[in-house]
Amino acid sequence: MEKMPVGIGLLGCGNVGSALVRLLDKGDIKKMLEIKAIAVNDLTKKRPDFVHLDLLSDDPQSVITRDDVQIVVELIGGIEPAKSLILKALNAGKSVISGNKELLANHGMELANAANKAGVDLLYEASVAGAIPLVRLLRESLAGEEIVRVLGIVNGTTNYILTQMTEFGIDFKNALGQAQNLGYAERDPEADIEGMDAASKASILASIAFGADVVFDDVFREGITGLETYDISYATKMGYVVKLLAIIEMVEGPRSSTESGGTRKLSVRVHPALVSADHPLASVRGPFNAIFIEGEAAGDLMLYGKGAGGAPTASAVLGDILDAAHNISFGASSRNLKRETVDFAPVNDITTRYYLALDVIDEPGVLAEVAKVFGMNKVSISSMEQVETNEGARLVFFTHVALEKNLQATKRDLGNLSVVKKVGSIIRILDGGQE
Ligand SMILES: NC(=O)c1ccc[n+]([C@@H]2O[C@H](COP(=O)([O-])OP(=O)(O)OC[C@H]3O[C@@H](n4cnc5c(N)ncnc54)[C@H](OP(=O)(O)O)[C@@H]3O)[C@@H](O)[C@H]2O)c1
Repeated sequence: MEKMPVGIGLLGCGNVGSALVRLLDKGDIKKMLEIKAIAVNDLTKKRPDFVHLDLLSDDPQSVITRDDVQIVVELIGGIEPAKSLILKALNAGKSVISGNKELLANHGMELANAANKAGVDLLYEASVAGAIPLVRLLRESLAGEEIVRVLGIVNGTTNYILTQMTEFGIDFKNALGQAQNLGYAERDPEADIEGMDAASKASILASIAFGADVVFDDVFREGITGLETYDISYATKMGYVVKLLAIIEMVEGPRSSTESGGTRKLSVRVHPALVSADHPLASVRGPFNAIFIEGEAAGDLMLYGKGAGGAPTASAVLGDILDAAHNISFGASSRNLKRETVDFAPVNDITTRYYLALDVIDEPGVLAEVAKVFGMNKVSISSMEQVETNEGARLVFFTHVALEKNLQATKRDLGNLSVVKKVGSIIRILDGGQE
């Protein structure tokens, strides 16, 4: 007897949803999976030719509750109504696929619990890095691996902007304008350039890689808006490339006078970083994404690809649908990830090397005054360069490994010196294995 195709209820038919409809209309896939209904917001909107208009509905609840729908695919985005719709589907015993990073970064635990309770799948490969099959890799291939650190370029917009600044010496504003003209950046680019999009993805990545309950607000975040063209060119001169990185790692907390050793805590953060030009992540250019995983036994792994776009994202969604359909036919569900409460390392506890730029008045004795502030705060300088500017002088420092708390105190004290006109960018430096 021929097997019936698994019924799909699609919520949303925009960039990703419509690309998915196209993928589902091909060859063997068509025999296995069948779209039964598609919920949209506006029934009068023009749709691509391959979207069958008789499947459209403006009532997402009715799509979920159809008896012939076994898998619900949420591609609406945002928190509500997506969250209520997903919970309703899970509670009704339907597997759910979603690419909604905002929702998963804020309510992932609640949704995972509902899926566990119902014994169905909640899969979200598309939510972190578009087409890159990352969630499956961490959940299955690396299930037994002790992950040491995950580094990600997970936002194509900022990577495009930084690439343009690096390769053509243009400033942030012009690079952003180019990204907008090419469709790599939204008209309102805040979520990308301020690191919010990357922080959502970092929280999902942290949950998967470290089995930790991490939400958006747990992620330390700095965007790229403060970076100057000269920061990028000094970095290049010193053999680095500036990247906006999502960094997830266990760090040793500082020892107090009464403790024999520090406690290990999870650090989840998004900020610009100087990446050595010979690190694999340095070669990730333009709107591409990459995730660099450091495993205890596996060593270093890197995944590279398109992190956004209708078709690449739909490809990741399709992989999840096939997984869920396979599980349905065998009465199983995917390995559920544990999510435990963890202690987070405040950013003040991390230790790394730093780049720091300072605009000062050009007078004798300034350097000694500035160097004293570094020393007072236990930050040791590894190299310094002085350049004349139209208004005075710029001092560019590279430090040895220092505690973030001490670096921030240095920044504060430098800002209070009368000889300092401006404390510019402070950029953390990523080193090979250990920052
Ligand atoms: N685009 C990407 O490159 C990308 C990459 C990774 C992840 N994602 C994620 O994938 C999801 C979808 O993104 P997208 O770019 O495809 O978004 P989109 O183009 O804005 O499409 C959203 C769809 O949801 C429908 N919709 C909105 N409110 C609705 C409601 N109340 N009931 C039913 N349908 C509703 C819209 O209907 P109308 O068509 O009638 O307006 C539209 O079809 C988001 O969670 C996004 O974060 C996207």
